[in-house]
Amino acid sequence: MSHYPVDINYFLVPAISGRMELDLSDLDVEGEVPAQLDGAFFRMQPDPYFPRTTDEDVYFNGDGVVGRFDFSNGKVGFRQRYALTDKLKLERKAGRALFGRYRNPLTDDPSVKGAIRGTANTTPLVHGKKLYALKEDSPPLVMDANSLATQGYTDFNGRMKGQTFSAHSKIDPETGNLVSFGYCQTGPLTLDCTYMEVSPAGELLKEVWFTAPYYCMMHDFGVTKDYVVFPVVPMVSSWERLKALKPHFGFDKTLPIYLGVLPRNGKGEDIRWFKAPNQNACHVINAFNVGTKIHFDIPVSKGNGLWFFPDVDGSPFSAPDAMAFPTRWTVDYASKSDEFESVKKLSDMGGEFPRIDDRYISRDHRYAWWLVIDLAKPFTEGVGRGMNALGYMDYRTGRQTSWWAGQQYHMQEPCFVPRSPGAPEGDGYIVVVVDNVVTNLSQLVILDAQAIDKGPIARVKLPFRLRAGLHGNWFDRSALPQG
Ligand SMILES: [Fe+2]
Repeated sequence: MSHYPVDINYFLVPAISGRMELDLSDLDVEGEVPAQLDGAFFRMQPDPYFPRTTDEDVYFNGDGVVGRFDFSNGKVGFRQRYALTDKLKLERKAGRALFGRYRNPLTDDPSVKGAIRGTANTTPLVHGKKLYALKEDSPPLVMDANSLATQGYTDFNGRMKGQTFSAHSKIDPETGNLVSFGYCQTGPLTLDCTYMEVSPAGELLKEVWFTAPYYCMMHDFGVTKDYVVFPVVPMVSSWERLKALKPHFGFDKTLPIYLGVLPRNGKGEDIRWFKAPNQNACHVINAFNVGTKIHFDIPVSKGNGLWFFPDVDGSPFSAPDAMAFPTRWTVDYASKSDEFESVKKLSDMGGEFPRIDDRYISRDHRYAWWLVIDLAKPFTEGVGRGMNALGYMDYRTGRQTSWWAGQQYHMQEPCFVPRSPGAPEGDGYIVVVVDNVVTNLSQLVILDAQAIDKGPIARVKLPFRLRAGLHGNWFDRSALPQG
């Protein structure tokens, strides 16, 4: 029996590279795919193309592979391609892995010194008809949203001076801008951060520099109408760690957390850092502001949620402390205090990978969905329990419900798909990859977003198992390039 909330084996099996680039049409469907869905669901998985140079590495270090489920007239096709990063190009030329451990340039082959180490393996996002394959330690990699052919890294015609662009960049539904940030902007482990906005035409409109209180994994952020919000949690690193060949990050229980709030029309020095006791958080649900008051929703755990980045003091991983619960942090930019104004737990359904109807990013959203670790449900011996259910919350009525995927299934990040581009908030579907860990087959499950407890309305079946993915996004046909 696994003592981890998410079973390690799930992320390592199949431990060997899948390495599949393929095109499938007319996937088998159980149930009925809503015929009005016209667009594509993109998702990303890390998958090392070459055998690694070390067997002591984290799952996050695989080369990015984009999967594209195309929906048209009730039919679903699937295309999968590697993101052809500079790293992968160099390695293919050499015929072997040249880059070493996750975010540790000290372990690289000398021949690739200075090359962009990014794997473009975290989030696929379409903006301005371009598909960006994003990874937080490197610039955005541009791909063709239909063919999935890689075009290469962009620095937005030389205007982006920082070195990184967050995998959790978000499209502001009000302006259409791609809002982003980056950390370690002047090199690994540096405190230099930027907040950026890119217009729908692909022009970098701003790059505002600020300094983090300490170096850490700044993985996600919040966007409100008037502010950008940066959680700083103590998943830290140092050159000493890298020299000692420790995992890049480790969790430090001695440090406070911070929530940085920067006016979107401000300068870097306008950022305010609000402070709270040690805890952990990763993926943002949403954020919005009412005047100077900022509401910031995020699953929060007492301790370290990532067993592969162990506590720096050597304490063993604690599954109960790793369980994250959706929580609302509220701060007031105009406050004289640097404390949080309030902290409110939103649900007892613990889990991660939260999503909203993305058309409500930056606004007071009504619904949220997330992956739940339901410890009360049975699980398959040998593969462990993991994210086995999908949670739903209606903030207005307080209704909360869930759908358990079944004993043999692990779930990947869900994504909300509007019934139509103009449908009301939350009116639509949830698409979510579920992996049968016994048959080693994956499905893309489609549920009614407002009735997830009723179970799938369709299961789109792949004839193989996908590797554990990170993030995915839906784009209507109108957002995609023609052809
Ligand atoms: Fe993420």
